[in-house]
Amino acid sequence: MTIQKSPDMEAMMRPELLKLEEYTPVEPLDRLSKRLGIPVEQIVKLDANENPYGSSPAALEALKRQQYYHIYPDPSSLNLREELEKYTGINKERIFVGSGSDELLELLTRLFIVPGDNILNFVPTFGMYSFLGELYRAQIRKVPRHANDYSIDVKAGLAAIDERTKLIFVCTPNNPTGNSAPESVVRALLDTGKIVVVDEAYHDFAGHSFIKLTNIYENLVVLRTFSKLSGLAGLRVGYGIVPEAIARQLWKIKQPYNVTVAGQEAARASLSEGTWISEHIQKIVAERERLYGLLQQFSDHFEALPSSSNFIFCRMKKGRAKQIKNELEKRGVLVRHYNKPLLENAFRVSVGRPEQTDIFIEHLKQIIYTQ
Ligand SMILES: Cc1ncc(COP(=O)(O)O)c(C=O)c1O
Repeated sequence: MTIQKSPDMEAMMRPELLKLEEYTPVEPLDRLSKRLGIPVEQIVKLDANENPYGSSPAALEALKRQQYYHIYPDPSSLNLREELEKYTGINKERIFVGSGSDELLELLTRLFIVPGDNILNFVPTFGMYSFLGELYRAQIRKVPRHANDYSIDVKAGLAAIDERTKLIFVCTPNNPTGNSAPESVVRALLDTGKIVVVDEAYHDFAGHSFIKLTNIYENLVVLRTFSKLSGLAGLRVGYGIVPEAIARQLWKIKQPYNVTVAGQEAARASLSEGTWISEHIQKIVAERERLYGLLQQFSDHFEALPSSSNFIFCRMKKGRAKQIKNELEKRGVLVRHYNKPLLENAFRVSVGRPEQTDIFIEHLKQIIYTQ
């Protein structure tokens, strides 16, 4: 059999995509468990801001009850949107559901960006905004946050806006730094008339939401997710409160079956469990404060920043964050490591269950004081 010589594939691809950073996949838990020789249930996973208590019982029940996984899902996620209408108080015509808020971010970028437009990004922040901007050939206007506390530099932000600015992304609480943006900052950005996308994936832990401003500003989009507090990261469901003019167009450009049957059912069920939701917010917020207190004992080694989210960002004063991350991993504790501009030599630890916090702190002590 002769193999036909392949053409130069890369020469045929979009050149700007070839320049994107290589994708490094996250190691699945079962594989990591095999590699480390530690059972999955003993791994303390504090690297992705998931809910350490898992999904709500009502969501798990709904998944068991559902009998129609062989039927395509409702493309309009209507039942879920009706439930979200009750939950948020926002008319369902302004609620758009996606396969995680990641998909909503992509749809918005697809809708607004033509090559040469720009997006405003207050860095450091969640990487998806700049990744999608690059994918759709936008110029990424990076406005550095204030170095001490990562608050947004509004003056610099406003100065960076021009007629080709299409989207302004505000992550609040900000991932990975944990701080929230004050309403005055968001309003100042909204007053420019540009589309402001407030990504409030972690708003439950901050006790504050920007949703109410969607009744005042027609240029505001607020994104939320079921991946964090609701513990449904593996099912991929997010939603946005979007102006009707945007919603109308998003319907046209999304994949028809973007949200799975399982995702729609589980998300809907988890909204019905008000007590579970409020109890878990309380538990995670209380544990965040305890963790923050415990981290202060290492203040000679790193600074733990105050957080209004379900994770804490730590920047090293001495020693290497990468080494801490690697040593913790060998012991079955996962944290996220950073070493890039404005996030040099740092790590982020998610809030776990109290016993997980204790294991993390014990290992951290061993690593820092005995190595
Ligand atoms: C700020 C922020 N926005 C959005 C997402 C993505 O959420 P989803 O799982 O809904 O796609 C994440 C996930 O880590 C995040 O941190």
